Amino acid sequence: MSKQQLSGRWSLVTGASSGIGVDLARELASRGSNVIVLARREEKLKEVQAELTARFRVQAEYVTADLADEQARQQLYDDLSQAGRTVDVLVNNAGFGLFGMSWEIPWEQERQMLNVDVMAMAHLTKLFLQDMVKRNSGFVLQVASYAAYQPAPTYASYSAAKSFVLNYGEALNYELRNTNVGVTVVAPGIVDTAFHDVAGQKKNRYQRMTQMKPDEVARVAVDAMLKRKASVIPGWMNYATVWSNRLVPRRMSAATAYRLMTMD
Ligand SMILES: NC(=O)c1ccc[n+]([C@@H]2O[C@H](COP(=O)([O-])OP(=O)(O)OC[C@H]3O[C@@H](n4cnc5c(N)ncnc54)[C@H](OP(=O)(O)O)[C@@H]3O)[C@@H](O)[C@H]2O)c1
Repeated sequence: MSKQQLSGRWSLVTGASSGIGVDLARELASRGSNVIVLARREEKLKEVQAELTARFRVQAEYVTADLADEQARQQLYDDLSQAGRTVDVLVNNAGFGLFGMSWEIPWEQERQMLNVDVMAMAHLTKLFLQDMVKRNSGFVLQVASYAAYQPAPTYASYSAAKSFVLNYGEALNYELRNTNVGVTVVAPGIVDTAFHDVAGQKKNRYQRMTQMKPDEVARVAVDAMLKRKASVIPGWMNYATVWSNRLVPRRMSAATAYRLMTMD
């Protein structure tokens, strides 16, 4: 499936009630794809659905689901299959982080985060990818983070979860290299969304200065996905940060990440 062929296909975008997910849904709709937006907050999803239909003249539907719940994920797949809805593009964007020293973060919150950031991403990929491989057609876009490239103290569990997303996605991309199915990982730096409020962190100077707009991130991500790239880091500063990190010892890389996350 090429860029032109997105027209009339169906994309499923998780976490599309706010932030990057809304712009990913817009970006796909602007290229002619019908879109199913998924999250927990129904009112927000209704607004996104109405905007997509009115602005891009595509079909849009919404599904409310808590992706931390394994049964809800299976139900989503079963319902779409029964409705005869073919998902040509799966965007695993839903996710959140938790800021703080690891021992201070309650286990229930961390378990919830790992369920959404890791288990839901892997489970939905498993369910929909099998069908894409059978059809020899489709795209999966995984939303990781540039935190995936190094240990990030104060976001220890989150950055480790995103390392899973990055490595898993890049490995799948290679496994699928001789097919027409693509798996792409986008690893954004700081993005101007509700992420930091949800994580419990007031954005610091570094984060405010380097943050990108979610629509820019979405455009870069969908471009890379359509080219079946293994991964992409939006923004040259983020790209440079990740690459310079590779040249320093891992302990120093952890210390640098800690300073950047905790500066005033
Ligand atoms: N903003 C950044 O600086 C940044 C940087 C790198 C990577 N990212 C990644 O980008 C992705 C999108 O985050 P964002 O920045 O756009 O933050 P956001 O505005 O808070 O959006 C997060 C989305 O995930 C959904 N979500 C969270 N828990 C869910 C659950 N249990 N079930 C279903 N949906 C759930 C939320 O919807 P409901 O609350 O309505 O369920 C919301 O639509 C995340 O994977 C995040 O880790 C963000």
